[in-house]
Amino acid sequence: MERIEYVRVPKGLENVIVDKSSISVSDPEGELIYRGYEIGDLAENSFFEETAYLILKGKLPNEDELGDFISKLKRERDVPDEIFEIFIKLKGKYLTPIDVQRIGLELLMAYDEKWYSQSYDDLILRAIKIISKLATITANGYRIIFKNKEPIKPRYDLGHSENFLYMLKGEVPDNFSSRIFDITMILYMDHDFNASTFTTRCVGSTLSDIYSAISAGLGALKGPLHGGANEKATEMLLKIKDENDAERYIMETLAKKEKVMGFGHRVYKKLDPRTAVAKKIFAKILEKKPQYLNMYKIMLKFEEVMWRERKIPANVDFWIGPIYYTLDLDIPLYTPLFALSRVVGWAAHYIEQVQENKIIRPKADYVGPRGLNFPYKRNWLSKL
Ligand code: SDX
Repeated sequence: MERIEYVRVPKGLENVIVDKSSISVSDPEGELIYRGYEIGDLAENSFFEETAYLILKGKLPNEDELGDFISKLKRERDVPDEIFEIFIKLKGKYLTPIDVQRIGLELLMAYDEKWYSQSYDDLILRAIKIISKLATITANGYRIIFKNKEPIKPRYDLGHSENFLYMLKGEVPDNFSSRIFDITMILYMDHDFNASTFTTRCVGSTLSDIYSAISAGLGALKGPLHGGANEKATEMLLKIKDENDAERYIMETLAKKEKVMGFGHRVYKKLDPRTAVAKKIFAKILEKKPQYLNMYKIMLKFEEVMWRERKIPANVDFWIGPIYYTLDLDIPLYTPLFALSRVVGWAAHYIEQVQENKIIRPKADYVGPRGLNFPYKRNWLSKL
């Protein structure tokens, strides 16, 4: 048998290209493209449903296609009441809101008779179901389990982002808040082979179902080095009094060789293009809510000091967490909100993976012992 030449790559697959994809690409120069369109263009001019269609189907929808997609999303907003009854039993348990998304997703699968199907049309419909129902699960799971409130049924006269905020808060959001939230839902939607998306693709590569793959993606996103950073960064900022305090905190953190949350990125070494959009959003927020000016100054100080000390830029989470804070959204929801958007990317990557699949199965450089003799001769087989 011919000798296998193994390829050794850096830990964490750093700077390793493992497959091709036509969904999105981020590059160190600070560019992020979704299916050919630049993120800044989409964030400033598109809306959730239109960009979700683009990510899922690979092209912008015409008017009829968009109308059909939006009505399919609306038709899938409802979830069985039994799921909310199960949520009631989860009050007070050791759970965070992203765990409730995972539990809710698995329960949704139990009501989907074609959960297993991998035909393209069935997968697109599963993706629509999951994208739409996850918003209802998230808003009402949070109300029932963490706020001890009654669930709120979705409305069909509101857009996806608007309806989510309505279910979460029990009132239709003002246009300013729902537009800002909708832009964040575009910024978070996809990001080539980030850890949670690659996890989703790994599960898809075994030809497991889309629900299981997205559930695994949720588990990966939860981590503080990934999606969990938007909550950690916001909690960090709320402890900082002013710009001098910011400098003190950063210098102490770096001296302890700890990470400043919301900074650094595997790909972006100069600028995360999503932060450029997020900063424009924050400037608009300040026009209406000047009470956040001190927070804004502190955030700019964090960027200045981190660049001066380590040449490390802020990432998307550093800015979007505080944006959610100005919208009076509770911090434990921030990573689940990231998931409400990224679920579109996960679904698209799952479909791309299974359509041209090869199981993802790398090898390890075994560094353990060899040649040890087992000391207990029990000879089970000779006694059968
Ligand atoms: C997201 O991948 C994606 O695309 C993710 C994401 C997406 O849209 O899916 O963009 C979303 O997850 C953004 C990242 C959110 N995470 C955080 O903000 C957590 C803090 N950041 C770090 O943990 C880190 O920067 C990572 C995890 C984001 C990137 O890790 P890498 O590429 O493995 O880099 P590294 O940890 O090896 O850091 C390289 C150097 C190290 O210094 P040395 O040990 O070489 O001296 O930079 C330092 C690190 O200590 N460093 C930091 C730092 N991030 C890197 N030092 C202080 N604070 C930080 N935040």
